[in-house]
Amino acid sequence: MEGVRVGFLGVGYFVPPKILSNADLEKMVDTSDAWITTRTGIKERRIAADNVATSDLAKEAALAAIKDADLTPLDIELIIIATITPDMQFPSTACIVQDKIGAKKAACFDISAACAGYLYAIAIAEQFIKAGIYKNALVVGAEKLTAITDWSDRNTCVLFGDGAGASVMGKVEGDKGILSVYLGADGTQHDILKLPAGGSRLPASHKTVDERLHYLKMSGSELFKHAVKIMTEAGERAAKIAGLNSPQEIDCVIPHQANVRILNAVAKKIGIAEEKIYFNIERYGNMSSASTAVALAEAVIAKRVKKGDIILLDAFGSGLVWGAIIIKW
Ligand code: ACO
Repeated sequence: MEGVRVGFLGVGYFVPPKILSNADLEKMVDTSDAWITTRTGIKERRIAADNVATSDLAKEAALAAIKDADLTPLDIELIIIATITPDMQFPSTACIVQDKIGAKKAACFDISAACAGYLYAIAIAEQFIKAGIYKNALVVGAEKLTAITDWSDRNTCVLFGDGAGASVMGKVEGDKGILSVYLGADGTQHDILKLPAGGSRLPASHKTVDERLHYLKMSGSELFKHAVKIMTEAGERAAKIAGLNSPQEIDCVIPHQANVRILNAVAKKIGIAEEKIYFNIERYGNMSSASTAVALAEAVIAKRVKKGDIILLDAFGSGLVWGAIIIKW
């Protein structure tokens, strides 16, 4: 349906209360606050309790977003959860969240697009709403990454944290809403960030446990190179599709929070002032699908994003996958 604009009716987020600081990590692996801060920008991250699953984090964020949209769970017609740490392989975490919030009328599914998952989910929800199939959609990026973190591997354990961000999407009036969506992938690089075991390739066994293959494995410096190039290109493509005359028209960049150095390099290449980037990496680390979702909700709640602002969501992750979305708030 041409002419239908889809936008954000409400946003919300939730992070677990327990903080793990760089000083705490110094006691666990051979690292230092100085190394983590200068190489990544991270000072602390949130850790969900043992009895808390991804759906529990998603539930809190979802209820906050539904309230912000002035709706009730029974009004929700579609739930999409973006996550690489589902409660279990199946059923989908979306079905578990549906049950937890009582959104009985919603269709439910998960998507797996790592750190770009929230953007992929927004893009899917936009199409369902534009096509007139659903009036609204609850989109949640939620992760308990600490469940797949190897606490003996200093290359990865300092980077990740837990959290969830949610948005209720629906039709909007006037010139606001999503102006452009650009998604992409490069499967030739599927090996550089992965969870090797537990799927059909390497089912769980004593051997996979002994070899620590149920933890995330990452080739950090490889990813770094791809991230800067891809996030720059994606941001520029989305700005072009949206018809912006120049990147200076962007008021706020809400990026995936993988590394402060990546984000500063991307801003410089696109030609956007660093002050326009919204950062929360220092408080939360990398929360994969949840990073951009939490950052958007925080920026809106803190009034860093205001009515009429042009914002760029820009994310990149394991797959490789990427996405950029321009929104008029
Ligand atoms: N503390 C101290 N030293 C460390 C630590 C640590 N926590 N981790 C690594 N080092 C050491 C390494 O062992 C290496 O030592 P060596 O030279 O003696 O071998 C040295 O620091 C440099 O390692 P590099 O990997 O070259 O460090 P780099 O500057 O690349 O920073 C980092 C590493 C932070 C991981 C960076 O590469 C990065 O941010 N990569 C991108 C990650 C990313 O984008 N992920 C996105 C997707 S996430 C998702 O989809 C879930």
